[in-house]
Amino acid sequence: MNNILDLIRKAEQTHILDKNEIVRLLEDNSCNEELFNAADSIRKKYVGDEVHLRGLIEFSNICKRNCLYCGLRSSNSNVRRYRLTPDEIIDLAKKAVDYGYKTIVMQSGEDEYYTLDMMKYIIYNIKKLDVALTLSIGEKTIEEYKEYKDAGADRYLIRIETTDKKLYEDMDPGMSHEERMRCLSDLRSLGYEVGTGCLVGLPGQTIESLANDILFFKEIEADMIGIGPFIPNEDTPLKDAKGGDFTLSLKVMAITRLLMPDINIPATTAMESLNKNGRIIALKSGANVVMPNVTEGEYRKLYALYPGKICTGDTPAHCRGCITGKIKSIGRVVSEAKGFRVKVNM
Ligand code: 5AD
Ligand code: SF4
Ligand code: FES
Repeated sequence: MNNILDLIRKAEQTHILDKNEIVRLLEDNSCNEELFNAADSIRKKYVGDEVHLRGLIEFSNICKRNCLYCGLRSSNSNVRRYRLTPDEIIDLAKKAVDYGYKTIVMQSGEDEYYTLDMMKYIIYNIKKLDVALTLSIGEKTIEEYKEYKDAGADRYLIRIETTDKKLYEDMDPGMSHEERMRCLSDLRSLGYEVGTGCLVGLPGQTIESLANDILFFKEIEADMIGIGPFIPNEDTPLKDAKGGDFTLSLKVMAITRLLMPDINIPATTAMESLNKNGRIIALKSGANVVMPNVTEGEYRKLYALYPGKICTGDTPAHCRGCITGKIKSIGRVVSEAKGFRVKVNM
């Protein structure tokens, strides 16, 4: 098959593409609208018009890692560090539930301050609120992952960032790609809903590498995939890098939807940071999840992964209203359910 439209049809009908076919779709920009429309119709067919909102609590910006792209890297002394107490985190979760969120996402840098007992206390208390709970707190041992799961955590997000081992280890000094994979496989074996994803536009990343990322998501049967452009941060060694492209990120996301029709795919905050309508465009190109921030006050600004992060001056109540309005404006509905993945036989 050499026609791009035929490739899109094939993906729509079979949900299978090989690496060369993905590369061709990513390289050719003549049929992007058709690609986005195909992803939108597969989204509608398999996961419907409901958009799941996840309330995101950024509870600590302290991180022991030193990822070259990230503003929270330990070598960055330009960011004022904060951590919330367990009771402050539980309070934010309660407020999020009052705003109507059915899933809470707890995200932080890799901060060793939070002991296993503290984490179990937080998880246990949030789960009492009758919500789904997602953790996004980095690389831990299988024993720790098991304890969190037993305490009630439902889902775990840990992006592979890139499947290119060399690029990964260049970008994330001191980290090992095998260890990242170990985390994903442990989480799967423990029965979590597993979320992963990648950055688009890292220095030296190729189109082939992005195709490998998409195939990797399918191979490990991830339940959620978050894809966002890399946005250079002034306070990092990659400050002069070019950064990721909005359209390419959107294409990686749309192809992921075509190949994995029934998974959850967020319209990422980084997409909106590059394009003021980015999340809505993503929702119309395959995404079915949004993760509004429910962190309060100055902490939003301090959780500075990359510049131009949206909503840093807004309140949780404002964001909740804002995103609901946007979702309704494109004829979609905010889900009342917890939004677990519902597997569909294909
Ligand atoms: N631009 C875009 N995304 C970033 N992340 C970290 N730094 C950046 C950046 N400069 C993403 C990583 C991480 C997630 C929490 O934030 O993919 O997994
Ligand atoms: Fe830490 Fe995550 Fe940032 Fe890496 S990407 S420095 S692990 S917060
Ligand atoms: Fe925060 Fe729109 S979602 S202001």
